[in-house]
Amino acid sequence: MSIKAVVFDAYGTLYDIQSVADITEEGFPGYGEIITQVWRIKQLEYTWLRSLMRRYQDFAAVTRDSLAYTLRMLGLAYDNEAFERVIEKYLHLDLYPEATSALAAVKPRKLAILSNGSPDMLNALVRNSGLDRLLDATISVDARKIFKPSPEAYELIGEVLGTGPEEVLFVSSNPWDVAGAKSFGLNVAWIERVTPEAMALACVETELVAPLTMFKAIRTQMDELGFAPDYLMRSLSDLPGIIKG
Ligand code: LAC
Repeated sequence: MSIKAVVFDAYGTLYDIQSVADITEEGFPGYGEIITQVWRIKQLEYTWLRSLMRRYQDFAAVTRDSLAYTLRMLGLAYDNEAFERVIEKYLHLDLYPEATSALAAVKPRKLAILSNGSPDMLNALVRNSGLDRLLDATISVDARKIFKPSPEAYELIGEVLGTGPEEVLFVSSNPWDVAGAKSFGLNVAWIERVTPEAMALACVETELVAPLTMFKAIRTQMDELGFAPDYLMRSLSDLPGIIKG
């Protein structure tokens, strides 16, 4: 495998998205953990929905909308200042401790990020973490107005770095991103941060949010996608009342 470029996913791979937990707990005491988890789940879900709906908005908008969904779903009141303080953390996520040495170790190959992040978000994050000193390029899918795992997103690697897919090692901790990159034809390394054993143990030993509650939290409240229903029903028996005559 003669690898000429190593390309990294950003959020969850180089940067720890769980590191928003302190600021969400500070802003919303007692809710920090549930906000952190539901926010990330909805953030990714919105990238997939917007790509399928062909209604692209950048990752900054999707990150804001998914946080707004989460706070509303939890019935939490907030002012603009509290909201912006949480959002700001996304420009200062913790770099994984091993990231800098790992990137330095695979130089002088070309090093880049390919991320759903918007250019402004990524440039700020890379600058704030000092990775700009190691990276040859920071590539945002915004150039294609569609999110990973669409093939159009991964095409940007070759366009920017001048490499063929077979010359690239793509690194991600996000399984959906790993599948997308592999499907596109890249060499892919998956960072399995939660082993199957640890996952199985966590599902037995730790305090769990009731699964039905988790489902309701993520799947039953109207989403922040800019498209609201024309009618609200409580059950199918409301139907005749809507289409009178
Ligand atoms: C990224 C995250 C969303 O694209 O996987 O950086």
